[in-house]
Amino acid sequence: MKATLSFLLTLSLCWQSNRTSAQTTTTISSPDKAVVLSVSNTPAGQVAYRVTYKGKKVIEPSTLGFALSKPQVSLTRFTIAAIDSATIDETWKPVWGEASQIRNHCKELRVTLADQSGSGIQMQVRFRVFNDGVGFRYEFPTQPNLSHFVVADELTQFRLSADHRTFWMPGDYDSNEYLYNTTKLSEVAALAAIRKEKDIALQSVIGDNAIQTPLLFKTTDGLYISLYEAAVLNYPIMHLQLDKKTLRLQAQLTPDAVGNKAYLQTPSKTPWRTIIVSDKATDIVGSKLILNLNEPSTIADPSWIKPQKFMGVWWEMHIGKGNWAKALGKHAANTQNVKKYIDFSAKNGFDGLLVEGWNEGWEDWFGNWKEEVFDFVTPYSDYNIDSLTAYAQKKGIKLIMHHETSGSVTNYERRMDAAFQYMVDKGINTVKTGYVGRIIPRGEHHDSQWMVNHYQRVAERAAKYKLMVDSHESAHPTGLHRTYPNWMASEAARGSEFNNAPTLGITPEHTTILPFTRMLGGPMDFTPGLFRFQLNQFDSSRTQRVRTTLAKQLALYITLYSPLQMVADLPENYEKHMDAFQFIRDVPVDWDDSQVLAAEPGDYLMIARKTKGKDSWFVGAITDENSRTLPLSLDFLEPGKTYEATIYRDADNADWHENPEAYTIEKKRVTSKTKLNLRLANGGGFAIQLTQL
Ligand code: NOJ
Ligand code: CA
Repeated sequence: MKATLSFLLTLSLCWQSNRTSAQTTTTISSPDKAVVLSVSNTPAGQVAYRVTYKGKKVIEPSTLGFALSKPQVSLTRFTIAAIDSATIDETWKPVWGEASQIRNHCKELRVTLADQSGSGIQMQVRFRVFNDGVGFRYEFPTQPNLSHFVVADELTQFRLSADHRTFWMPGDYDSNEYLYNTTKLSEVAALAAIRKEKDIALQSVIGDNAIQTPLLFKTTDGLYISLYEAAVLNYPIMHLQLDKKTLRLQAQLTPDAVGNKAYLQTPSKTPWRTIIVSDKATDIVGSKLILNLNEPSTIADPSWIKPQKFMGVWWEMHIGKGNWAKALGKHAANTQNVKKYIDFSAKNGFDGLLVEGWNEGWEDWFGNWKEEVFDFVTPYSDYNIDSLTAYAQKKGIKLIMHHETSGSVTNYERRMDAAFQYMVDKGINTVKTGYVGRIIPRGEHHDSQWMVNHYQRVAERAAKYKLMVDSHESAHPTGLHRTYPNWMASEAARGSEFNNAPTLGITPEHTTILPFTRMLGGPMDFTPGLFRFQLNQFDSSRTQRVRTTLAKQLALYITLYSPLQMVADLPENYEKHMDAFQFIRDVPVDWDDSQVLAAEPGDYLMIARKTKGKDSWFVGAITDENSRTLPLSLDFLEPGKTYEATIYRDADNADWHENPEAYTIEKKRVTSKTKLNLRLANGGGFAIQLTQL
C-alpha cells in the first residue's frame, strides 16, 4: 500500500481578485485525468462541488450541508479552513468475489469547513476521485462545540446538466422491490409507477418526486452516470427528492419513528455519496468504486466463509405445492420431503439446502403485527432437525437456516444469541434472514438508521458464531460485504420470486438493469434457475409466469453475481432437462477475474468470468424482450491453448412467451482467436462453459 500526503501541492487554488466576494476553486483530477472534481466556496459562503468526465458535465455545481435539530443549526455557509490531499494506490484481495484482487487507485481531497453562522462547528468533506467517478463523505471530528447531535436533514445536492434518460424506482423507505422505470428525469412520476405495480403490499412511499438510489442516467452526449452510496453504517439510507425545474436532486434521508434522521456523536462520518461515470456502459457494471470506499474486512480468519450453491424447500411453497405453516396442511418442511431435497442436492454436487417453514409460528406470521411470533429454536413436530442435519452431513450437504423475523426486530434481537447458538449446536453455518412487513414495535422503516444498525449487528454477531448471512427485505447493499464478508448476499431488490406476483412480475429487461444499479452495492440472492415457466403446476388457476427462456435462466448465474447462488426450482422440474441442468451443476460461485464484454442498460449484458484457481471460463449473456445477436470474441482465453466450449443457447425457435423451453447445447473446440456470433431469443440468453483441454 502506498499513500502519500501532499499538502496543497497537487491543488490549483485560484482566488478571484475581489476580496469581499472571494471565490476559491480547488480542482483535483483522477489518476488518468478523465474525472475532474472542483470544489468552490461561493461569494455567499456556500460550498459547491462539480464533476466532469473527459470535459463533459456530470454534476453541475451542487451544494453541501446539513440541518441539525440538536443543536438547532443550519450548516450551509462555511469558510474553507484547510485543504489537503493524498494519493491512494493499493491492491487488496477480497475473501471471495468477482475478482481475486482489486486495485484501489484514487486521489483524495479533504476540505475542512468552518460554519459561518457562529455555532463554532467544523466538519470535513473527504472526496476521492477515481478513474471511474467520485465518492465523498462528511466527517465530524471531535471538537469543543459538538458532541452528540441529531441530523434533521442532509442537504447534499446532485444537480444534473440536462434532462437525461433515467432508470429509477419510486422512493420508499420500506421497499426496494420495484421494477425500474425508464423516463426522462423530468418525467419521474413515482406515485403513478406505484399504482401500476399493484402487487407492492408494503409501502412507505415518499411522494411523486422522490426516487431511490441506485439511480442511473444515460446522457445524450454518451455518458452513463450512476448515483448511489457506499458504506452505510450508523446512518439512514439516502433517498432523493427531485426538483423538476432545476433537475436538482437533494438527499432525503429515511426518518426514524419520530421523524429524526440520524443520531450521531463526534467523531463520526456519513456514508459515501457515489457518482460513477464512464462513456462505456461496461465500465459501470465492472466498477469497483463502491467496494473500494468500504473498509477492509473485520474478520481476521475468514477460512470458514464459503461461497455456496444451494437448493431450497422454498419455491414449492411460493407456487402452491406446499405450505410454510403446518396447520394449513401440505407442510413442505417435513422430514421426508427435506430428505428428498438433500438426496437431489447431494447427487448434483451442491453445498447447501435452505429449509423454510421449519419452525413454529407460520400460522400467524403475517399481517397481525405481533411481536412474539417466532422463537427461532422450535422446529415443527414433523421436522426432525437432528436426524436431518445428520443425514445432510452424511451426504455432504449443509442445511441453511431460515429466520423470518416478520418485521419483529426487537424480538429477533432478544433471541438472536440463542438462535445462533442453536445453529452452531446443529452444525448449521448459514442463515437466511427476512424482514417481511412493518418493523415493529416502534414503526421504524427498513431503511432507517436503527435498522441499518440492526443489519450490521446481525452481521457482526453472526461472525462471532462463524455464521454466513443472506438477508432478505434488508436495505440496499452498499459494499459492506468487503468489511463483513460473512454477510454474503442480500435480496434488497425485486428478485425472481416476483415471477409469481399477480401483476407485473419480472419483465424481461429487469435483469439487464440490476447490474447497473442494485448490483453495484453487492451480491444479490436473486434465486435464478427456474426451468418451468407457467407457474400453474399445482394450481391450474394461476396465470403467473416466468418471462425468460430457459437458456437465460442459465445465463443469470453469470450475469447476476452472488457467492450464494440458489438453484431455485423443484427437483422434478430439473429432471426434465438434465442436459441443461449440467450447466448449473458446473457453474462456480467464486471467480479470479470478470470481464464485462458488452452492456447496455435495459437492453443486454454479456460477462465472462474465470473460475477461481482454475483455467476455465464461463460466459453469460442476456437480452431484454428483444431478440439480438451478440458478437463474442474469446480473446480473454489464454493464447495458444485449446478449450472445449459447451454452449447452452436459445434454440432458433425459442421465445420467452411462446417457446421458453427450446434450447440447444453444442460443443466446440475454440481458442483465444475464436469469434462467435450467438443469437439470443426475445427474453433469452446464452451460457458457455470453456474448459482448457
Ligand atoms: C420473502 C422472501 O424474499 C422469500 O424468499 C421468503 O420465502 C418469504 N419472505 C418468507 O420468509
Ligand atoms: Ca422479498
